[in-house]
This record gives sequence, structure tokens and C-alpha cells, in this order.
Amino acid sequence: MSTLDTHLTPADLEETMRLDVRRGLTAEPKVLPPKYFYDGRGSRLFEDITRLREYYPTRAERSILEARAGEVATLTGARSLIELGSGSSEKTHVLLRALLDAGTLETYVPVDVSVDALTEAVPLLVERYPGLAVHGLVADFERQLGAVASAGGAQGPRLVVFLGGTIGNFEPDQRARFLSSLAATMEPGDALLLGTDLVKDPARLVAAYDDDAGVTADFNLNVLRVMNACLGADFDLDAFRHVAVWREDTEWVEMRLRSERAQRVRIASLDLEVDFAEGELMRTEISAKFRQVSVAAELEAAGLRLDQWWTDDDGDFALSLSLA
Ligand code: SAH
Ligand code: TRP
Repeated sequence: MSTLDTHLTPADLEETMRLDVRRGLTAEPKVLPPKYFYDGRGSRLFEDITRLREYYPTRAERSILEARAGEVATLTGARSLIELGSGSSEKTHVLLRALLDAGTLETYVPVDVSVDALTEAVPLLVERYPGLAVHGLVADFERQLGAVASAGGAQGPRLVVFLGGTIGNFEPDQRARFLSSLAATMEPGDALLLGTDLVKDPARLVAAYDDDAGVTADFNLNVLRVMNACLGADFDLDAFRHVAVWREDTEWVEMRLRSERAQRVRIASLDLEVDFAEGELMRTEISAKFRQVSVAAELEAAGLRLDQWWTDDDGDFALSLSLA
């Protein structure tokens, strides 16, 4: 049994995009909001990133899942698995298998803002797990947690999973609001499995976001292609360059696009013209890195209790399990 529900129509998405992009491109310094990376092409480029030699987070997180999925199943006894920002759901198979083997899991709700990612993932899930109810949900996990919480009649105990270090893509204040709102939707017996990338050697961090093959550069520049397609903008992709820097002060990797020359960009559907100076940097994404103490404190501040903290053998990445 499967469904794909949309809480965000293409018109909603375009309206939000218009507001976000107008605000971002008229701000000083300019910033583009990150949730527009993942059109069909962007989602495929992200899958390519997860296989890069330099991009360790996916491999590290998968190894933790492989080691701990059985414990997650025993500790949570989850009947429903709700995944935020599920993308291709590739790593989730490890968890689905363990929860199905434990005999508790009935429903899987992958939630993603990318209709392309879900349209591809849901049929594959249905084929692989005939007995599982799969309810895909196209929604914005930042603005629509209420809809996510009531999705598909998902029965408790529920396990909410948020993998890939995507929590690090929020700004700190946004992150605190998000965690509190999420905790408020959880009931006693529910649990949160959260993936966080950890602070490490800056050279490895930067390489993970600036690979030799240039895949991450293509991914970052793709956001301009999305603006061109959805908002009738005329960004020249050859006139911008991908930049990734480690910021010691905030402990995040910052992705930027550097304008290679002075140029004017027109965004037709906003009736907006934006000037870029030569060398001007526009921020497109942050990816915060964490420490155990900060994760524990942030979860507690949101009203959750950190129960388990697991890392891979190299201590690069962590999964934490928290109880409501
Ligand atoms: N969980 C997968 C994918 C991570 S990439 C993994 O670990 O590999 C981040 C995913 O979050 C993308 O699929 C993107 O479309 C989704 N996403 C980003 N912002 C979102 C938002 N505000 N609401 C819902 N999904 C979002
Ligand atoms: N959640 C991923 C991360 O922070 C997203 C990501 C990987 C990303 N590489 C990127 C976002 C490059 C923007 C640019 O690791």
C-alpha cells in the first residue's frame, strides 16, 4: 500500500521561493535559501556527492546504522518510521530492515520538499517491502511539522529520523526553533534518531564540500539553474564559481558562489534586477558541525532526553537517539 500526498503544490513552492529569493537577493550580503537545491538534477547530483571519496558523512552514517539498527529497533519498538528530508531513502533501508525483522514496523512516512526525490523513491520502497505501508509526503519540514505529525495516521510508538547531517543546514536559532517544534509533536514513547556531522580537521571538512571532481561545485551552481527555470532569472552559470570555507568562529562549512565579474542579473518573475560586484560572495548553504556536548544541550533545551550517542569507528559522525 502506498500514497504520495502533497502539502506543497508547485504554486505554494513557487510563492515561497519568490518571497525567499527576493529577501535573499536584496539582503547585504546576498544569500540564497538552500531548500531549492533539490530539483531532479540537484537530487541526482547530491546522490553523486554521497559517493565521492572526499564526502565521508554518508559512509560514516551508514556504518553506524549498520552497527546499531538492531538496537534502535529494540529500544524504540517503533510501529511508524517518519523520515525528514528522506531524499532517496538509501541509508534508511538498514533501519527499515531491522524494524521489520523486529516485527513492529507498519508504516514508513518519507517526507521531502523535493517531489522529484519522492516520486522516484516511493515505488522502489513499495517494490522492496510489500507488507509495509509507505506514505510519501511532499512537505516543508520547517514550516509544516504539524502536517507531518498527523501524516498517514502513523501509529505510535513513532520513530522520527533526520539523517545526513541536514540539521546542520539550519542556522542556530532556526535549529533551536525546529527542535522545539519537533519535540512538541512527539508523544511519550516516541523517539528521535538524529544524524550530526562532527567537528574535525578543517582540511577534511573543506574537501568534503569542495571535491576534486567538481561535483559539489555543480551542485552548488545548480541552484542558479533552478532560479532560471522557476523564476525566469538569467544567471550565467559560467560567471559564478563555487567556494567552500570552514568558519572556525561558528563551526560551520559555508558554501558560497563568487561572482567572477561585475554583472547584473534579472529575475523576471520578481521584476527584480540585482547587481553583483566582481568577487562578490553570495552565501548558499551552511553545514554546521557538532560536538557531543552541544548536541546533548540542544536536545535538552528542546525538551528531549539524549539516550544514546553512537559514532563510527573514526569518530567522524554521530547518531543520537533521544526520547520524548
Ligand atoms: N536524508 C538523505 C538526504 C539528505 S539531502 C541523506 O542522508 O542522504 C537533504 C534532503 O532534505 C533533500 O532531499 C532535500 O530535498 C530535503 N530538504 C531540504 N530542505 C527541506 C525542507 N525545508 N523540507 C523538507 N525537505 C527538505
Ligand atoms: N546535508 C548535506 C551536508 O550538509 C548537504 C550538502 C552536502 C550540501 N554537500 C553540499 C549543501 C554542498 C550545499 C552544498 O553535508
